[in-house]
Amino acid sequence: MKNYFYLIVLLLFIQCKKEPIKEISKKETPTKGVITKNAMVVCAREEASKIGINIMKKGGNAFDAMIATDLALAVAYPFAGNIGGGGFLVYRTKDGKVGALDYREKAPLAAHHDFYLDKDKNVIPQKSTLGANAIGIPGTVAGLFKVHKKFGTIPFKDLIQPAINLAKKGVVVTKKQAKALNKYKVNFQKANNRVIFLDKDWKEGDIIKYPKFAATLERIRDNGRDEFYKGKTADILVSYIKDLGGVITKEDLEKYEAKWRKPISFKYKDATIHSMSLPSSGGICMAQILKSIEPFNIGQYKHNSTKYVQLLTEAERRAYADRAHFLGDSDFVDVAIDSLISSEYLNNRMKNFSWTKANTSKEISHGKLNNIESDETTHYSIVDQFGNAIAVTTTLNGAYGSKVYVKDGGFFLNNEMDDFSVKPGIPNSYGLVGSEANAVAPEKRMLSSMSPTIVTQNGKLKMVLGSPGGSTIITSVLQNILNVIEYDMGMQEAVSKPRFHHQWLPDNVKFEPSFKLNFKDLEQIGYKIDQSNSPVIGKIDAILVLPNGSLEGGADPRGDDKASGF
Ligand code: DON
Repeated sequence: MKNYFYLIVLLLFIQCKKEPIKEISKKETPTKGVITKNAMVVCAREEASKIGINIMKKGGNAFDAMIATDLALAVAYPFAGNIGGGGFLVYRTKDGKVGALDYREKAPLAAHHDFYLDKDKNVIPQKSTLGANAIGIPGTVAGLFKVHKKFGTIPFKDLIQPAINLAKKGVVVTKKQAKALNKYKVNFQKANNRVIFLDKDWKEGDIIKYPKFAATLERIRDNGRDEFYKGKTADILVSYIKDLGGVITKEDLEKYEAKWRKPISFKYKDATIHSMSLPSSGGICMAQILKSIEPFNIGQYKHNSTKYVQLLTEAERRAYADRAHFLGDSDFVDVAIDSLISSEYLNNRMKNFSWTKANTSKEISHGKLNNIESDETTHYSIVDQFGNAIAVTTTLNGAYGSKVYVKDGGFFLNNEMDDFSVKPGIPNSYGLVGSEANAVAPEKRMLSSMSPTIVTQNGKLKMVLGSPGGSTIITSVLQNILNVIEYDMGMQEAVSKPRFHHQWLPDNVKFEPSFKLNFKDLEQIGYKIDQSNSPVIGKIDAILVLPNGSLEGGADPRGDDKASGF
């Protein structure tokens, strides 16, 4: 009897070993999303999407809703929502004008090429990821005010007030959030000289109030943009960072500017895709990948089949190799964007693709250009009742950023400096390598993968989407575009589908555990499969305009994400 018991325990153990990562269950993979007639917000927390929707119900437009949603996420989702980080916005107005806003962080004036290296030119562990020296100059507050100046129709004070109220009332901790808070406690302790979030073991249903953050938001409400960059909040921030041994000064904050940019716009079949331009690599890489596969008519292959995976993997390999070599902040380096996304160049890059044998990342490095021309995250999508559309991806970089929590200001600061290539060839926290184009320099913006994206078809709005996930953002977004355009899926179905990812280096193809495929077929022709360490690839929040003009939300079941609308 006793032996029998041990045998069962052993069998259970073997079973558990075989399936170490929890798959998303059927119940958690909805295929039909929320459908509304007029307006919609899809984001990481229901509190924030409801706040955005209320603004539009009161007559505000998508830009007003964006500001209110963003600030509400800073309260309800401090994992990535922020005022201490930065982001990108891509918009399309009701009359078809597209544009983009870059409120990405910048390197401090005191940062320099070898800022993260010791005297022997070795990378100093964790300097670019944890603590005060990982922080880039935050851009979020500047970005929100810039949006408001150009497009806002409701006073800023009314857009920030719901976030202030939420911070005072408190936010209910979800199961996923409780897990994250408990997990990162050790790092909060390492990064701060004052203890925060450590006083208890968090569990679902707890309520966190943020009185200090409410006070900061009230000062921003009363004093405007300059409160963050020149006022009391700036003083609090700079003195706290100094205490922790960081280099950010008041001058750094005063010099920060968000910038309007031209999005990367390109055709894929009969769709036009607008995505983020440098300093995000998102638009360029997505254009490269989709234009590389266009001649192969990928829709003829079964969705997520071996051939589908293989073709996308090879296009991704080439695009990420180019990313590592050519891309950086276009205010600092010349990037031949038009050449990099031209069909001529990309068809040439795909010439050595073969269905019978994998290429290797050793043999595929960056391409050759003939001429050089003179350039833990969260995403939300909004469409308003007037027809304006906005895609925003904003981040602190890692979960809770640098883990530095400005105690007297009540908010986290980013660790975006790790998105620079701190030393050529040394991978960052997403395994991405880079070159001189993305080396650290004072006031330079670090290269991003964030890809807020808007798709139109026949001159009409089709889809608004984006994702967190570091290097996997680009490939997650483009798989969702293909799910809809090539495989005719609805928005929620597209978002719920399992995903995969390849980024040149490391030379393996990552799959979500729920991805069903006979991996042997890929392995036989030379692909290395990695299912070990990627329980979740991306977290897409998207909106699809249905043929009858209604909106379908796709809220990613991988998180607590929710669509709200009316
Ligand atoms: O800008 C970037 O590409 C990264 N800092 C994004 C980080 C991110 O998506 C984290 N989310 N999981």
